[in-house]
Amino acid sequence: MGENKSEREYWDQLAKRYDASLGPLGRPMIRAVKQVAEAAQGTDSVMEVAAGTGLFATTLAASANKVIATDYSGAMVEQLERKIDEAGLTNVRYEQADIYSLPYDPGIFGVVVAANVLHLVPDYPAALDAIRKTLKPGGLLVTPRFPHAFVMLPSFSASSTMLSLRLMIYCCRVMGFLL
Ligand SMILES: C[S@@+](CC[C@H](N)C(=O)[O-])C[C@H]1O[C@@H](n2cnc3c(N)ncnc32)[C@H](O)[C@@H]1O
Repeated sequence: MGENKSEREYWDQLAKRYDASLGPLGRPMIRAVKQVAEAAQGTDSVMEVAAGTGLFATTLAASANKVIATDYSGAMVEQLERKIDEAGLTNVRYEQADIYSLPYDPGIFGVVVAANVLHLVPDYPAALDAIRKTLKPGGLLVTPRFPHAFVMLPSFSASSTMLSLRLMIYCCRVMGFLL
């Protein structure tokens, strides 16, 4: 469902250069990371999907007791692992996992973070549904997104969906999220 090998390969190839590619985002990016950490403050268990190199996950470590950071790209997970080890974070775990089939029991996370990814997945409702199942009742999905001009690279696979904000909001409501 929605798995597209060429897109995964795209992220695999980008992994080592990903952090450098974020450079032009500057202050809005730093602000987004801080706001996500604040939203998760005091949570027992947080999962991040599509965590990339761990920009958010490493900051979330100070907000929650346990953080599980996942991504379907093996090369991204390697970067994530390196960053977690270098920072000596003992409460952050990393795992390779596809957003559509998250290998966790239902209803266990107080907060799920999906940063800069939901506009990229081909099957948006299926991704939302998979995330919702892992959330505790009343849990929070935090889904920040940097400006499209920066994150949609021209070489990105044409099969990716660029959802309008209005459609994303509609899908969230249909999938049972309160906005
Ligand atoms: C724009 S990057 C965002 C990374 C990180 N969340 C951030 O904001 O810096 C998109 C990430 O989504 C991941 N991704 C894309 N589709 C995915 C899927 N179906 N399951 C899991 N991860 C996915 C990619 O591997 C990549 O790391």
